[in-house]
Amino acid sequence: MKKKRCINRIIIIGILAFFCNLAFTPLLQATYQLPPPQNIDMNLEQTIFRRMSIREFTNETITDEQLATILWNAAGFRQDENRTIAGINRMFASVIYVLKEDAAYTYNPVNHSLHLYKTGDWRDTVGYQYPGAPIVFGLCYNTTLANPNNAAAEIGEICQNIAFTVDALNLGTVVTGGLPPAIDRMGIPEDQTGLIIMPLGHPLHPYNFIYRPLWFSLLPKVKETQMNLTGALQQRTQRINFQGTITRQVLSQLIWSSYGFSYYLDKSEQDLNSIVRHRTVPSAHAYYPLEIYAVTASEIYKYQPNLLPMFTGYPADYLGLPIMTFLQKIKPGDNRAQLAAASSLTSISSAPLSIITVLNWNKTKNAGQQYLPFWYFEAGATTQNIMLEATVLGFHSNIALPTDNTVLLSLLKLNDGYTPLLIVPISK
Ligand SMILES: Cc1cc2nc3c(=O)[nH]c(=O)nc-3n(C[C@H](O)[C@H](O)[C@H](O)COP(=O)(O)O)c2cc1C
Repeated sequence: MKKKRCINRIIIIGILAFFCNLAFTPLLQATYQLPPPQNIDMNLEQTIFRRMSIREFTNETITDEQLATILWNAAGFRQDENRTIAGINRMFASVIYVLKEDAAYTYNPVNHSLHLYKTGDWRDTVGYQYPGAPIVFGLCYNTTLANPNNAAAEIGEICQNIAFTVDALNLGTVVTGGLPPAIDRMGIPEDQTGLIIMPLGHPLHPYNFIYRPLWFSLLPKVKETQMNLTGALQQRTQRINFQGTITRQVLSQLIWSSYGFSYYLDKSEQDLNSIVRHRTVPSAHAYYPLEIYAVTASEIYKYQPNLLPMFTGYPADYLGLPIMTFLQKIKPGDNRAQLAAASSLTSISSAPLSIITVLNWNKTKNAGQQYLPFWYFEAGATTQNIMLEATVLGFHSNIALPTDNTVLLSLLKLNDGYTPLLIVPISK
């Protein structure tokens, strides 16, 4: 009898505990509406000057307003139903995971909300390289919508928008890659693949820059414009018809945005970043293996972003050297018809400027074919910069894909140690 009463008590306590637990555990919402994005109050060139990797964070949290601004800028829909990125072939394959303390969510750009994916704190499991960040982004893609290279280029566009927004908000982030993808530790649907993880937080070492343009070049200096990142994201336009001419100032500014060096010297003295003059895009291992070509109505040029770091043996600048930049003449004459015929967009034959990103395999230090998506990522980041800078200078742009590498390589006087990745035509 006593035993039966005891069992009954245990059952009642168990039932009560279950209901108490339900009552006091905050229920995770399946959909979490984000506030509207904030305006970025800094001109585009300054956000480009400030781009750098930050790997150490304080434990201060990220507000919903900050998160909402970063996510909308990353890949949101505008009022005109265009997006803040061009994608590749207008095919949008990316999926952004947002790992918070309570759960992992996916960003839904259609209604600017977070959708619950999996409960639990996955931040340090997935963001294990730099644990302790209050938010971790997982950049993945749907394998049924794009091939790995095109998807990686799209993710490069997104991450560049994230990096600029983050630096303008005085927050910090770093692009991290690696194989197998770190997001596999959390598990994602079978038709998705992970590519990049970005921890997000308040920098442990605050931003601290010195303005040192030190521009030694016949190319006109980069000028700061009036438009901010928000304006550029809102007003970016893609065209399939190309016309007009470009000035040397525009050529200089656009080519710099693709792969150039900052006017700022980084004095933040981070323990985990010793680069002093950062470049406009990140690069895996700081290899910077891309080469940038400009095709105009009268000449094909190769861009030399800065001669001086080459003497130190590194493509990144750990000293804060002057910027000795120039355009090397590769081939005279109007070669745009040949370029257009070897691309996915034949109308670029009338574009006053097309910028081509080419991978130099020698500079990848034998990383191998399996890392090709990471170089496409970098090309995508480069194209995003050009498209944003073109917008603030009053130009339209687009992305074309190479369709005949043999023709393109012969046009650029390159051998098969190079692979053309993306082409950005510009138009008035
Ligand atoms: C595709 C890609 C993968 C990267 N992977 C890592 C990584 O796994 N860990 C890391 O600390 N940094 C990583 N980085 C950041 C680079 O190391 C960094 O961009 C480079 O050193 C230049 O430094 P900066 O971005 O501060 O100018 C990666 C960058 C890219 C573009």
